[in-house]
Amino acid sequence: MRTYSGNAQLQAALGKLRRDGNTIGFVPTMGNLHEGHLDLVRKARDLCDIVVVSIFVNPLQFGAGEDLDAYPRTLAADKEKLFAEGVQVLYAPGVEEIYPEGMAAQTIVHVPDLGDTLCGSSRPGHFDGVTTVVSKLFNIVQPDIAVFGEKDFQQLSIVRKMVTDLCLPIRIVGVATTRAEDGLALSSRNGYLSLDQRSIAPMLHQTLNSCREAIACGFDNFLQLESHARMRLLQSGFEPDYFAIRDARTLSQVTEDTEEIAILAAARLGKTRLIDNVRLSLNPVSDWGMLASGH
Ligand code: PAF
Repeated sequence: MRTYSGNAQLQAALGKLRRDGNTIGFVPTMGNLHEGHLDLVRKARDLCDIVVVSIFVNPLQFGAGEDLDAYPRTLAADKEKLFAEGVQVLYAPGVEEIYPEGMAAQTIVHVPDLGDTLCGSSRPGHFDGVTTVVSKLFNIVQPDIAVFGEKDFQQLSIVRKMVTDLCLPIRIVGVATTRAEDGLALSSRNGYLSLDQRSIAPMLHQTLNSCREAIACGFDNFLQLESHARMRLLQSGFEPDYFAIRDARTLSQVTEDTEEIAILAAARLGKTRLIDNVRLSLNPVSDWGMLASGH
């Protein structure tokens, strides 16, 4: 595995690999790699000849008072894991390589609507930071495909829209959320949880699942389902940020055109903010009126 911290060296190496006829799969990360990241790497490896992983804790996507300084940086351990997975290229730039003129001078990529709701409302500027750095990384690496986790479902939707809107010649591949045995979605932030909090954390996924089951059984009052779920999270010790039943394509309210529902939640356990989601396909010939009346 070759590691690069400079764009020019990375691009020279990737240019040669591309000229030799290799396809390039890209997995952008912020490091502190766990099985969830490695599942993304395995997907990229299945689909492409060369796997490029980036590790960059992107300051532009952290708001004031968020965990930028505390975010775990574990480059040596990450390198071992990537090497063991057969990754050929690691790109680990410093902040000055990505933002040579500083972040305030950086052109910003903004995806409207999809980026303004849910995590976008509670973390203003967060998705602009994500789409800006992902655009830069895409232009530096120029991959054929890029792989993202479905745990960050809103991020995945926003990146897909950005790629479509900007006509970027990159196929975006989503990979199902990797979970611990008790259902907790794997996340680098799980490491912040105390033992007590860790035992409560799977309740987030359980609450999402109960909501999905209720909808699948025909329960049609979405507002009631959302408020019941928020109450259940509060009672379990979470501070819910949002619990929302949305159209999986638009992330706005469910309508009669909705083909798939996404149920998305963000909640804090102490200082740790956890997010998760589940989805439910609607049978096009199902009794739509039943579901729509919930709104
Ligand atoms: O999902 C992440 O880890 C980050 O948001 C990403 C896509 C690497 C951009 O910094």
